[in-house]
Amino acid sequence: MQRVCITGGAGFVASHLADSFCSQFPLAEIIVVDKIGYASRRDHLAAALGSGQVRLIEASICDLPLMRSLLKGVDLVVHAAAESHVDNSYRNVLPFLESNIAGTVALLQAAIDNNVGLFLHLSTDEVYGGADDHLFLDNDALAPTNPYAASKASAEMFVHCYSKSYMLPTIISRANNIFGPRQYPEKLVPKLICDALRGEKFKIHGNGSARRSFLHVRDFCGAVVTLVTKGEHGQVYNVPGACEHSVMEVVELVGRHTGRSCEQLAERGLDRPFNDSRYGVVADKLLALGWHPESTLEAELPGLIDWYAENLHLYFDAVSDGAVLAAERGRPTTKYVTGLPR
Ligand SMILES: NC(=O)c1ccc[n+]([C@@H]2O[C@H](COP(=O)([O-])OP(=O)(O)OC[C@H]3O[C@@H](n4cnc5c(N)ncnc54)[C@H](O)[C@@H]3O)[C@@H](O)[C@H]2O)c1
Repeated sequence: MQRVCITGGAGFVASHLADSFCSQFPLAEIIVVDKIGYASRRDHLAAALGSGQVRLIEASICDLPLMRSLLKGVDLVVHAAAESHVDNSYRNVLPFLESNIAGTVALLQAAIDNNVGLFLHLSTDEVYGGADDHLFLDNDALAPTNPYAASKASAEMFVHCYSKSYMLPTIISRANNIFGPRQYPEKLVPKLICDALRGEKFKIHGNGSARRSFLHVRDFCGAVVTLVTKGEHGQVYNVPGACEHSVMEVVELVGRHTGRSCEQLAERGLDRPFNDSRYGVVADKLLALGWHPESTLEAELPGLIDWYAENLHLYFDAVSDGAVLAAERGRPTTKYVTGLPR
């Protein structure tokens, strides 16, 4: 592999992928494309940029002419750029259509125009919709229930279409909830940790009974390396976490490690307009390639809490309006499209 393009690389998951690719493929030239949205930090890429292997292009993947020229000579595209937060998709869906669907199509088009060798698309378990007891197989029907998941499912349809119509070699990964350092504190685990560290109360969606499987970002990077080296083109792979917890159990775990009771740390808030109960996946295909998840949320929490304690300044204003996420200052107030207050 000579040239790799990683999209969304200044965000959470793909900045770890950039680090991982630098160490796994030391001869590869890596282009990272990111529009530098609210969840991005250039600091996330400090080590990767310092290696001399990585070049950061600050641009939108929706810019087709630019993507066409960037993908010249690229063997592998790892497509992670997306609007990624479900709550935001209920508040304002249009950016999700633009980045997650139109952006994916622009990248696919640029990939076929340049005969890219493999297009790895990062999708999510949320495309299945939720189910209590059913374990989803990668050939189960997609039935997304929130706008983020619907945009990711739509993107997958285009990946499938480009694979069939234009013979573009593709692989789709559908991962459980990924956690680890650098995740923007709007998602469950980092938000809880930051609320605990800052003495704020976390608002639980509903009664906290929804269950999620948690996949450490280090394990996910291992899965991606396995897929690009051993995965079968044209296939979809579920990527499971090593552990499953209800939201309330995660509150208890974070409370235990930060010295706060559940009552001190969290209170019941409004539920989402719809909240999937659980996403259990069968991952036999990926496990057969020799990968398995190793890190549990419980084991990783102490280190993760230390990381957020040291890096709160990346996400929060220092003094006066400390209750406000730095990236959200000045953002227009919007409402759920369903009319529910946020
Ligand atoms: N975090 C998870 O739990 C999880 C689970 C399964 C799948 N995924 C998928 O993994 C990918 C990465 O997720 P993440 O958690 O790192 O999200 P993130 O929000 O931390 O990072 C996404 C990055 O994409 C960039 N981006 C968005 N639109 C763009 C555009 N039009 N052009 C260029 N850059 C753009 C953003 O600026 C940001 O840096 C997403 O595709 C997401 O759907 C995430």
